[in-house]
Amino acid sequence: MDRKEFLSTLGFSAASIALASCLGGCKKDTPSGPTVDFTFDLTQSPYTALAIPGSYLYTNGIIIANTTSGVIIAVSEACTHEGANVQYQNSNNQFYCPRHGATFNTSGAVTRGPATSNLKQYTVTVNGNSVRVNG
Ligand code: FES
Repeated sequence: MDRKEFLSTLGFSAASIALASCLGGCKKDTPSGPTVDFTFDLTQSPYTALAIPGSYLYTNGIIIANTTSGVIIAVSEACTHEGANVQYQNSNNQFYCPRHGATFNTSGAVTRGPATSNLKQYTVTVNGNSVRVNG
């Protein structure tokens, strides 16, 4: 291998390492959660629980909450720190992780660590008693 080939190979290796490092970093900032697309009826169990503002339930790897203002929202249920199920706190209108205390706003964005990545936010479409969750 001559000098030119060696430097060319070295440059490719350095670029590969930099690219791999960037991809790892980018992945950390992307909210993760299951991909879902389902519809439920608010008059059918267990979804009747969501009729009360401030209530929430888990299904399909996500947490669905009826906020204190009566808006139905959905984010991934697994805390991005170590995977504990987050809860909806109606007193603060936020998601809370009981394991180490991380908090997330109603869009799933981290508002207090130790979690550093956001929860995945889902699109919720309400049409009468029919609710579609997808994302
Ligand atoms: S697992 Fe949620 S804050 Fe640690």
